Amino acid sequence: MADLLYGSPAPGLVEVPAGAVQCSPLIPGATDLAKVADGSAEGATVLAPPGTLERDFVLAQALRALKPGGRLTAFAPKDKGGSRLKKALERFGAAVGEDARRHHRFCFVTKAKGLTGLNEAIAAGSPRIVPAMGLWSQPGVFSWDRPDPGSLRLIEALPPLSGRGADLGCGVGLLAQAVLRAPGVEALACADVDRRAVECAQHNLDDPRVSVAWADLRTPLPGVEALDFVVMNPPFHDGGAEDRALGQAFIGTAAAMLRPGGACWLVANRHLPYEAPLAAAFKAVTLRGEGGGYKVYEARK
Ligand SMILES: C[S@@+](CC[C@H](N)C(=O)[O-])C[C@H]1O[C@@H](n2cnc3c(N)ncnc32)[C@H](O)[C@@H]1O
Repeated sequence: MADLLYGSPAPGLVEVPAGAVQCSPLIPGATDLAKVADGSAEGATVLAPPGTLERDFVLAQALRALKPGGRLTAFAPKDKGGSRLKKALERFGAAVGEDARRHHRFCFVTKAKGLTGLNEAIAAGSPRIVPAMGLWSQPGVFSWDRPDPGSLRLIEALPPLSGRGADLGCGVGLLAQAVLRAPGVEALACADVDRRAVECAQHNLDDPRVSVAWADLRTPLPGVEALDFVVMNPPFHDGGAEDRALGQAFIGTAAAMLRPGGACWLVANRHLPYEAPLAAAFKAVTLRGEGGGYKVYEARK
């Protein structure tokens, strides 16, 4: 394998070798870094994620995948883990060069003998059953080690649904699991942009009514249409910056996938301005629950 790339660096931030293979779990279709053979990559350019377990997992996987003498360039914004990157790499026994530019820290490692702790970091960042949810999850996925309070609020408010539906941004499947308790649900199309979440959801939702897709839901899932219902706890963070447009795009996607008269059940943080896009995309919007900083809406197409 030639070079690896993990993440989407801002244009001009770092030089990425031509033909580098994308390994981010957040880019549908990308290669799974964990499946790259040991010692096979010429180089790796890694936009390191901020969470400690996730970051160490990714750095350890990249070092494992590099061939001897291969070069790792790992970088992150200073205030999102960049200032801790050098220490993290040194804990693996690596000699680390460091540079700072455009509010980022850059670390350089040439793979040499004597790296330690890679297997431990990989084990600590791998999927496992999380007791607080009784579900498979993995560090790095949304609310990976506890149920999200917004999703719990939506679960409380949901009536038993029926017919064919979708869970947009399904995560590891917490909400979908609750929806599937209703015997009237005939089919549930789940989708998420995070491959790790999708793989966990596939384990967690072992039900013949379920399909799980790795997809960006800013556009509708191909071939999934005229649905009776959609449930969603739409994302409102994209790369750490609040991105209301993402939630608004989910509203458009839900409306496009529903049949006339179909219902979209949505939970959102109370401060998010979703009333206007909901009113624009649906015939009737009803507030079905409020509390704990969240609002639950039922929107009828
Ligand atoms: C607020 S979480 C809800 C997770 C899950 N439904 C639950 O109940 O725990 C939003 C989910 O949307 C996913 N997501 C973010 N951007 C997305 C996109 N563009 N397309 C599809 N899914 C996306 C995230 O990975 C995350 O799992």
